[in-house]
Amino acid sequence: MIISRGDGIRVYDDSGKDYIESVAGLWCASLGFSNERLAKAAYDQMLKLPFYHSFTAKSHEPMIDLAEMLIERAPVPMSKVFFSNSGSEANDSAVKMVWYYNNALGRTAKKKIIGRIKGYHGVTIAAASLTGLPNNHRSFDLPLPGFIHTMTPHFYHGAMEGESEDDFATRCADELDKLIVAEGPDTVAAMFAEPIMGAGGVIVPPRGYFPKIQAVLKKHDVLLVVDEVICGFGRTGNYWGTQTFGIEPDLLTCAKALSSAYLPISATMVSEKVFSVLADESHKIGTFGHGVTYSGHPVPAAVAIETLKIYDEIGIAEQCANVGSFLQEELHRRFDDHELIGEVRGVGMIAAMELVADKAARQNFDPALKMGARLVKLCEAHGVIARGLPSDSMAFSPPLIMTKEDVTEMCDRVSLALDELTVQVRRERLAVV
Ligand SMILES: Cc1ncc(COP(=O)(O)O)c(C=O)c1O
Repeated sequence: MIISRGDGIRVYDDSGKDYIESVAGLWCASLGFSNERLAKAAYDQMLKLPFYHSFTAKSHEPMIDLAEMLIERAPVPMSKVFFSNSGSEANDSAVKMVWYYNNALGRTAKKKIIGRIKGYHGVTIAAASLTGLPNNHRSFDLPLPGFIHTMTPHFYHGAMEGESEDDFATRCADELDKLIVAEGPDTVAAMFAEPIMGAGGVIVPPRGYFPKIQAVLKKHDVLLVVDEVICGFGRTGNYWGTQTFGIEPDLLTCAKALSSAYLPISATMVSEKVFSVLADESHKIGTFGHGVTYSGHPVPAAVAIETLKIYDEIGIAEQCANVGSFLQEELHRRFDDHELIGEVRGVGMIAAMELVADKAARQNFDPALKMGARLVKLCEAHGVIARGLPSDSMAFSPPLIMTKEDVTEMCDRVSLALDELTVQVRRERLAVV
């Protein structure tokens, strides 16, 4: 499929066919595909200062202004911002800062990093090691030693017979506690977590999960790095996913909607507790030996500044809470009782629905049937670009400018695709009905 142009929440292929982008590209084009203010911000910055760097005590206004805007908007007090070009690099930078921090404190054995099974944090070496998806490890000699994974907080599949959501959350925290104790608390440095797991299946944690997890981390003096690469900037109905789930990060990474994806930029935010230690150590060494040529590049930084201004003007969190609650209602109303849909889940402007072969047993289709991919193809035929996820789940993470009318139109198109899939499944007798 060759995508030739975009307009609002839609993109058009090279034959002119229109598609509603139900995942904003890769969960990122938050202001849609034709925002002129962002194009102009890039053009104006190109004319003024097309490049400058942040090495050898240099800086420039777009980077400084954007850092200050992020600190002002941070969900918990943050001290400094380090910029890079992708979510993966933002997470790799966070891993390196955690290691540097513990070396500076003389805790040279406290280095292991915990991710979660089905978590996704990117594909560079540390980020892929943090990721808990087999295809990002298999044949890559990953994860690196010292990266360990705890259980997925997915109530629908993970809960035991008769277990309440609260008990399940407690069990997740107990498992984490056991893992840290088994590894040795003096060897565990940090845990990374997405507020909602995105690429792993849009997995919304059970109520009370993060406060319980965070209590375990605090007990063992393990830092929490919150990966807001998908959830940041309104997606969950608050400015940060951190706020939706009551999390208090020590470091926070973000990317994607930071610039509405118009240009690559990501950020690693660091609390004063961590920063002061990093600063002392780098003063001792003489430099903080980390940075990339395009850290805080002025053009993406200018686009990000304009993006954050637009979010303020439209009240991005309220907009997402409002349209997002309609999106969730519509998905539940239309698909909860559907014979092929096991679970509809989500918060705000992020959701998924999961295909099942046996609804009563919560049993997925045989992966060889590639049922999720079939649904994605049918959605495309009906004019929706959709994203298939593990366990035949289909994600919804549309541009945040979507209106309720757009939601209705998107759901109408998806319903037609699902009707067609249902006919195929019945004809081929693939589901238990
Ligand atoms: C939660 C999360 N973290 C990190 C990343 C990696 O970002 P990038 O692809 O920009 O490296 C992604 C990408 O989808 C993501 O969803």
